Amino acid sequence: MAFQTLDDLLKEGVESRHVLVRSDFNVPLDEEGNITDPGRINASLPTIKALVEGGAKVILSAHLGRPKGEVNAKFSLSPVAEALSEALGQYVALAGDVTGEDAHERANGLNDGDVMLVENVRFDPRETSKDEAERGQFADELVALAADNGAFVSDGFGVVHRAQASVYDVAKRLPAYAGKLVEKELSVLSTVAKEPEHPYVVVLGGAKVSDKLGVIEALAGKADKVIIGGGMCYTLLAAKGYNVQESLLQEDQIENCKDLLERFGDKLVLPVDLIAASKFAADAETQVVELDSIPEGWMSLDIGPKSVEKFAEVLASSKTVFWNGPMGVFEMEAFSKGTAGVAQAIIDATANNGSFSVVGGGDSAASVRMLGLDEDGFSHISTGGGASLEYLEGKELPGVSVLEA
Ligand code: 3PG
Repeated sequence: MAFQTLDDLLKEGVESRHVLVRSDFNVPLDEEGNITDPGRINASLPTIKALVEGGAKVILSAHLGRPKGEVNAKFSLSPVAEALSEALGQYVALAGDVTGEDAHERANGLNDGDVMLVENVRFDPRETSKDEAERGQFADELVALAADNGAFVSDGFGVVHRAQASVYDVAKRLPAYAGKLVEKELSVLSTVAKEPEHPYVVVLGGAKVSDKLGVIEALAGKADKVIIGGGMCYTLLAAKGYNVQESLLQEDQIENCKDLLERFGDKLVLPVDLIAASKFAADAETQVVELDSIPEGWMSLDIGPKSVEKFAEVLASSKTVFWNGPMGVFEMEAFSKGTAGVAQAIIDATANNGSFSVVGGGDSAASVRMLGLDEDGFSHISTGGGASLEYLEGKELPGVSVLEA
């Protein structure tokens, strides 16, 4: 990989230098604003700790959710600052703004080894602007926090597929380095992308088939089998002629799905039974049903036991697995068995068949932890959902290529 890394920066020396770090702290929150899965925070620690040990003045930047360019307390990074302080074992101050007076004062007041966080970069509309000049202006303001002799470390792997000011434009304005997380993720994912051992099985779930059509197409070209579950499978089932009743359906995608089935039908592995529910609720009435038997007015919220068995059989002989997206509404116990079963099948393939298994994505990674599965049972759990998929599809990641420039 032709970019400078954190180790190069540490060799140069960071003592007393301001180092601006872009992390991905886009963590799931419950209704009360509590972090339900701290995976991304934990994954950011090695880079931050190395900079602290080197005596840097660390300024962290990150986004949370999609506040659409407006200050919104619901998307404040305050729970992140708190969790980070605890995880690091040192106080991480949160600035009351992103590049305003408070952020500047705090950045100027940092001592060697101190860590601060600026507020959600997406509170500023210029962060995600399509206009390069606007983004550039915001990037200049972020860079100004790092004063003279500053450096930039890109460590938010989950967001490197976004050409946004704090990810992309900042890297053009400061000496830029890949952090430990970005380096590790790219090294693992490049093995899967470039030299997967076959059989290579991709497992895809998640809500919208429209978001994943390109992914299915790109990965079906490379993988031996593509297993599909989750909300997106119902449009494919509808394309096969099944009445999916009230299940998630993107009617405008049925034709595209028919085309996909025609071209890659032999590679796509779809569910053979489902868990039907009377309503979208944890206490819904449920039934295990065949594909053509979802009761009228009901919806499917998970794959059924025979599907888990069928998917597990395909996974058992795999040598490489990439999994993105849950198989059902795993947050509700009644609809978590599909995701848990498939995750367990991947863990088994890793242990019994030496399969190289990668979990990609916020939701799938969170489901592993929330369902109490053994995280160490997978070869790698990526912090990037969209980023890991785009990388495996062979797309350019702007936040990475800018480091190589
Ligand atoms: C993610 O959660 O995948 C990343 O943090 C990127 O977030 P985004 O999809 O809102 O850009």
